[in-house]
Amino acid sequence: MLIKIRRGWEIPESQATPESAFFNRRSLLAGLGGAALAAALPAGRARAAAPADMAADLYPAKRNPQFTLERDLTDEKVATHYNNFYEFGSSKYVSDAAQKLTIQPWQVKIDGMVEKEMTVDAEDLIRKMPVEERLYRHRCVEAWSMAVPWTGFPLKALVDYAKPASGATYLQMQTFQKPEEAPGQRQFWYPWPYIEGLTMAEAHNDLAFIAIGVYGKPIPKQMGAPLRLATPWKYGFKSVKSIVKFTFTDKRPKNFWQTIGPDEYGFWANVNPAVPHPRWSQASEELIGTGGKRVPTQIYNGYGEFVADLYKDMPKQERLFM
Ligand code: MTE
Repeated sequence: MLIKIRRGWEIPESQATPESAFFNRRSLLAGLGGAALAAALPAGRARAAAPADMAADLYPAKRNPQFTLERDLTDEKVATHYNNFYEFGSSKYVSDAAQKLTIQPWQVKIDGMVEKEMTVDAEDLIRKMPVEERLYRHRCVEAWSMAVPWTGFPLKALVDYAKPASGATYLQMQTFQKPEEAPGQRQFWYPWPYIEGLTMAEAHNDLAFIAIGVYGKPIPKQMGAPLRLATPWKYGFKSVKSIVKFTFTDKRPKNFWQTIGPDEYGFWANVNPAVPHPRWSQASEELIGTGGKRVPTQIYNGYGEFVADLYKDMPKQERLFM
């Protein structure tokens, strides 16, 4: 018998994507080496959660006028209560569960191909960085999107601080591993910890941003406190939350979702309306919090002027969108 499960961040079949189908348990088990699987979906909409107060005196940060938007910002309550954070469950409503995460103290390790490996306190690190506010679109592979005001700093400032060796070609970023605080991490069939990666050229791109706040205050735990990635030209799963480690390497990282579904999720994940996900269209997206309004999806999520050059000479162009 095939028992089918759906990941919480995929669109219910009752909603807009007719191609939507379910991952099946047997293929997931096969991919993960035969572990037992049970789908546990926490239910219920969570209450508003108090934001963490790390570096609270930095808010509100000055808005960078280079990064503004043509669309309205998503309502704060909507954006902070519709989240994907599998460490706290596979539903969208993980904000209550995420409050269990201890974020102070928070150590960040910088290792791999760097001049000198180091472990720094997150707050000390943040205070060394050029903090500003940017308005970004945020497009999930599931075909919904938001527009959010992140506070944070350019990833390239952290890269420069880390002093990577010239041979480093990728930056891998890793989420915490704390099953005692994050019940999702007790679901051993997932390949914890959540990791993601960028090429060094991508990490150096102006758009790549480490968010430490949102809506003019420290980022709430459910959105990836105390620091998470924001790469708005890529699907949201690239934006790894609650980072504890930055590793410079010459090997391409295999990300969390690629490990689970290699035929459906790849390394690049650049937004492209012309390349459907194997199970649904990417041509348009639902603007969360607007009562179902849909807009056409733009190539690179509308950020081509910043990033298109990164990919222009690469072979197998179509794979850049997986
Ligand atoms: N990071 C971790 N550690 N765990 C996750 O489950 N989900 C990803 C990404 N980062 C995820 C993660 C996915 S699928 C998306 S769409 C975005 O976070 C959602 O970010 P948001 O909840 O702030 O909108």
